[in-house]
Amino acid sequence: MKKKIVVIGSSNTDMIVETARIPKPGETILGGKFSIAAGGKGANQAVAVARAGGDVHFVGRLGNDMFGRQAMEGFKKEGIKTEHIFFDDEAASGVALIFVAEDGQNSIGVGPGANGNLTSESIIAAADVIASADIVLMQLEIPIAAANTAAKIAKDNGVKCILNPAPARELSDKLLGCVSILTPNETEAQLLTGIRIETEDDCLKAAEILQRRGVGTVIITLGAKGAFVLGHEFCGLVEGFKAEAVDTTAAGDVFNGVLAVGIAEGMPLKRAVTFANAAGLLSVTKLGAQPSAPYLADIQRLYESREE
Ligand code: RIB
Repeated sequence: MKKKIVVIGSSNTDMIVETARIPKPGETILGGKFSIAAGGKGANQAVAVARAGGDVHFVGRLGNDMFGRQAMEGFKKEGIKTEHIFFDDEAASGVALIFVAEDGQNSIGVGPGANGNLTSESIIAAADVIASADIVLMQLEIPIAAANTAAKIAKDNGVKCILNPAPARELSDKLLGCVSILTPNETEAQLLTGIRIETEDDCLKAAEILQRRGVGTVIITLGAKGAFVLGHEFCGLVEGFKAEAVDTTAAGDVFNGVLAVGIAEGMPLKRAVTFANAAGLLSVTKLGAQPSAPYLADIQRLYESREE
């Protein structure tokens, strides 16, 4: 039987404008193509899990509006279990405004809407599915109280919790103590530890601080360079794959979703990170968050070209 992965987090509709470069504050630049795509860090991770072959339940909150209904349809088409997705009659669905520049870099502003009403009570209503999961995967586009409650339920029931601390924010030692695997990028690692991440040695120092604060394994994602891992079974850099970036939006989300699948399937840590690096790379070769999440066969093909 497939392992059960519960993703808890945000769902947004992304409004994307392609521009030559990211506009500076106060600047208007005439952009290129406009498109709308399904997004939200939580929903992107759930889709990445589903396409990589995982059994995924999504816990989140949508507005009772056109975007919310479209998101729900999207989840069902992907085979994501939707019993713990709540509709909010007061708040609109989450929306993100995204600029994607010619070099693939992006800039994102999020209006959280209903995601901001995912309360601890909503998490408690989903306690059974969290307690019976093999892995819980979360990010921070939802209220911190919801993340705290979910992490505690996971810990109390011996469920592995992967926390992707994005967007960056301060976190309590109590929350970090419930986290089995923490996956910050360089900016998030710096905010959490005060260490500016420039070298592998910086990664190690930051990861050691996070372990002292209670985290099990630390994986610092480094974009095209790959990811630095400090775990009980492996410590070091796991190199990334190379390709021309079209759009880096959701590369981190795809990495996390596919990492959860690898860990759930019992892959050794270094292999699971290589598998996730392959998926993250594939995602930057396409525009849009969920449209860019790769399928298992494509991830495997790239991963096997590297397998050690
Ligand atoms: O990580 C990318 C995501 O961040 C986008 O899909 C956007 O919705 C924001 O949540």
